[in-house]
Amino acid sequence: MKIIVDTPEKLAQLAAQRYVELLKNKPNAVLGYATGSTPLGLYGELARLNAAGEVSFAEATTFNLDEYVGLEGTHDQSYRYFMNKNLFDKIDIKKENTNVPCGIDMTNEKAAQYDKAIEAAGGIDLQLLGIGHNGHIGFNEPGTPFGSVTHVVDLTESTINANARFFESINDVPTQAVSMGIKTVMNARSIIFIALGADKAEIVKKMICGEVTPEVPASVLQLHPDVEVYIDHAAASLL
Ligand code: PGA
Repeated sequence: MKIIVDTPEKLAQLAAQRYVELLKNKPNAVLGYATGSTPLGLYGELARLNAAGEVSFAEATTFNLDEYVGLEGTHDQSYRYFMNKNLFDKIDIKKENTNVPCGIDMTNEKAAQYDKAIEAAGGIDLQLLGIGHNGHIGFNEPGTPFGSVTHVVDLTESTINANARFFESINDVPTQAVSMGIKTVMNARSIIFIALGADKAEIVKKMICGEVTPEVPASVLQLHPDVEVYIDHAAASLL
């Protein structure tokens, strides 16, 4: 695990360079993307580099980590909407090559097809991850088996509370999601992990220095051969 500590702006630039390098060597790379506030700096930087002609996504394929169950892709809190607005509409990617799990009429059986689609695309070259305060990656909440593939998830109270800020009322926050499993994430060839802010310091410490346990889903990353951890000074403050 390689750890990079810097300002959020510099981290976004450094992480973006990984995409520039990867897509230069492999224009048809398969990219795993994440939602949340953490990747916004990186997405802004990727859009800027794309507009400047320094990177092209024209041949790339993407798979997002997760989606809320019950929200159409046109809902402004769906992760499909988020990705279109914050990245896909701003870069030269072909929309048909972007995949976000479908949150409508989802079952575990249908969800597992997502892993098959990832495999058929050649597997994920570079997976981006953030972390929840409870250690979740994607929507893999504490206790999710390390062998899990894409599946339907009951969101924990902590996650529902954390996401309530994006909805009019906490009652509007979906209580389920569909998420890549831990095994799906661990199958990626390389992983970029980003965490920003003092409120992530405790869980970042557990992830990097704590026991590898399903109770802290992100701790599984200690077992992955190629993870780069991008954290700002506040998130690194307990290391
Ligand atoms: P955040 O979410 O980037 O909005 O903090 C991260 C996550 O819950 O995975």
